[in-house]
Amino acid sequence: MQVYKNGIPTEHVVDMGRRALNMKNIEVTGFHIHLGRHHWAPWFWKGQMKKYARLIAKLKEEWGGYEPGEIDIGGGIPTPRDPFARIVSRLDFPLLAVFWVMTLLLKILGNKTRYKIISKALDLFIHKSPNKSLTPEIEEYAEAITDTLLKNLKWGGIDPEGITLQIEPGRSMYGDTGIHLSRILKIKNQTRPIKWNWVLLDTTYFFMAGGALEYNLHDFIMANKADSRPVKTVDIVGRSCFADRMMPEVNFPEAESGDILAILDTGAYQEVSASNFKALPRPATVLVNGDSAEIIKRAETVGDVFRRDKVPERLLKKKVEEVKVGKVG
Ligand SMILES: Cc1ncc(COP(=O)(O)O)c(C=O)c1O
Repeated sequence: MQVYKNGIPTEHVVDMGRRALNMKNIEVTGFHIHLGRHHWAPWFWKGQMKKYARLIAKLKEEWGGYEPGEIDIGGGIPTPRDPFARIVSRLDFPLLAVFWVMTLLLKILGNKTRYKIISKALDLFIHKSPNKSLTPEIEEYAEAITDTLLKNLKWGGIDPEGITLQIEPGRSMYGDTGIHLSRILKIKNQTRPIKWNWVLLDTTYFFMAGGALEYNLHDFIMANKADSRPVKTVDIVGRSCFADRMMPEVNFPEAESGDILAILDTGAYQEVSASNFKALPRPATVLVNGDSAEIIKRAETVGDVFRRDKVPERLLKKKVEEVKVGKVG
């Protein structure tokens, strides 16, 4: 949070505010914060709101009694299955360091035993699970936010009566309305030198890059076998040429090519961040309403992907000349 880029550093806000208050064409209407990715716990919101209200009180003092007409607390209220587990968690780094040293030391036992022990250790320690528990209800955040603001504004000598409270919820409103459907292309199981299993999907993390940037480990369900039980640990991978580990080291049921996997909670920041990496055409978007479904964005074609490409005139000309003298084709 300390390195989040938005906003005015508090060390500059006193002077900037004073200058703005003295500008005749500027009306300073109030305060705005957006703390980026907030925490799911109401106690965290209480802490943030207390600091915010106290900063507002301090600014009132510095700005000769200025009182805001609006207080905006930005977005960041989580979706119900937030916090997502992490594809790469902080614990991975020390764990990998220990693993690496272990793999070096094991060299003295010869490769066969070494890989056996590594496989066993991977089985025991390397495993991730999507978060299944739900966040508190929206009312709990509302209470934590408003109670703390009211109490601390009054403490700072600001009458909250008449001040408009604004919020800017994004993901909490539609994050869990999106489901990314994909088909299993291949299942690959390896036993040597180490045991590893892959489930290859016909999609890619580049179609939901927003989640990947936040390291979200989305929950998933087999859409055509919804009550199947997990039986082994797999990497669910996408089909781009990068490692494309969409859901690494997760428990997975028996499955076969053609099964349909539903990746949950892809309603916010996923579709809008989808890219054409590797010239892959992006999928369609379907709006489901009760038992009806409407396509609201058609699937891209390869033609769409290359539509903006232009061959520079000089290269086109050269080709024509070469064809004329028989160098090409
Ligand atoms: C200023 C501002 N407000 C609100 C939001 C919405 O955030 P969220 O989807 O986390 O609620 C954003 C998102 O980046 C933002 O930049």
